[in-house]
Amino acid sequence: MSLQNTRFLDACRKKPVDRLPVWMMRQAGRYQPSYRAVREKVSFLELCRSPELIAQVTCSPIDEFGFDAAILFSDILVHLPAMGLDLTFEKGEKGKGDGGPKIANPVRTRADVEALTVPVPQRDLKYVLDGVRAINAGLAGRVPLIGFVGGPFTVASYAVEGGSQGFTRLKTMLYAEPATAHALFEKLTRAAIVQIEEQIAAGCHAAQIFESWLGELDREDLEEFAFPYLARIAEAVKKAGVPSIFFSTGTTAHLERLAQLGYDVVSVDWRIPIEEARRRAPGVAIQGNLDSTVLLGPKEAAVAKARRMVQAAGQAPGYIFNLGHGIQVGTPTENVKAVVEAVHAFAWK
Ligand code: CP3
Repeated sequence: MSLQNTRFLDACRKKPVDRLPVWMMRQAGRYQPSYRAVREKVSFLELCRSPELIAQVTCSPIDEFGFDAAILFSDILVHLPAMGLDLTFEKGEKGKGDGGPKIANPVRTRADVEALTVPVPQRDLKYVLDGVRAINAGLAGRVPLIGFVGGPFTVASYAVEGGSQGFTRLKTMLYAEPATAHALFEKLTRAAIVQIEEQIAAGCHAAQIFESWLGELDREDLEEFAFPYLARIAEAVKKAGVPSIFFSTGTTAHLERLAQLGYDVVSVDWRIPIEEARRRAPGVAIQGNLDSTVLLGPKEAAVAKARRMVQAAGQAPGYIFNLGHGIQVGTPTENVKAVVEAVHAFAWK
């Protein structure tokens, strides 16, 4: 099916667009009443395993806010059970944060790494691929669909720590047992590549790599433990023929180097002025970088800041409006709507 709106894909390729493309990380999620209604009935993992519900929650922000791209509803950890890890998502308790992923048998030793199996998406993650097809049927060509996987370091942080418990165990592994760490990153890289290849084959029009916690590493460790693996994932997406987007936070000190990894787009967080990001990485398209906290309100302040950001990003082709990290729980939907409309209405004077 041919796409009616190619602004997002054109901007990824640094082609001129008649109107800036905008989408937001975590655009399907708990800030939406419609999402919370679905989650009243099913758990998070049940939702991730239902192609029909995946399609419903992925399409809803497109219908509601007019984003220029949809992103597959899934998670960067869904493949871990197929690799041999016992993954659950804990329900958030009132006053105790949001809950989050828990792995009962975390990866701590070389033997644990050897025991991990690389998933076979057609068999182990068929619900994701069926979800991709169901989303595209629901979108009917209105906007492109972004597939995604987690970056090896970020996925490893959950696999080794057993949840969102920091990075000390994983980073200690880098120094104490570098061969074990490399073996783990190697397996997670192969797992990422097979997943993203299959998502693209099932119909995704672009691929984003979520390497959210890469800012934990210094440059020397990035060069040894992260960049070679990330470059291989970029290469696989390139071979599959769709634009690739690299996302991380806390890494703008390394922007020039990130822009050389082979991705078409680098998504930056709010810690760098957008015009500086574009100036320092002229070879790639830039995505970002509104601080998602701004969306909590007031609406007028969010719209004004978004407008200043677009102005600062400049007119040169190759800019995609997004946040610096995901939309936060508690964001008023009217603020999201107002910012999307303001970006779409932006006209250069
Ligand atoms: O962007 C999108 O709209 C697509 C959906 C998406 C989810 N997770 C849904 C989700 C994407 C792209 C992710 C990626 C993801 N998952 C990352 C990287 C991106 C980032 O934000 O840094 C990470 C680190 C995870 C792991 C994960 N999943 C954690 C730590 C948590 C718990 C914290 C939280 O936000 O609740 C999740 C759960 C999760 N993934 C939810 C959603 C909508 C909330 C689950 C719920 O409905 O209760």
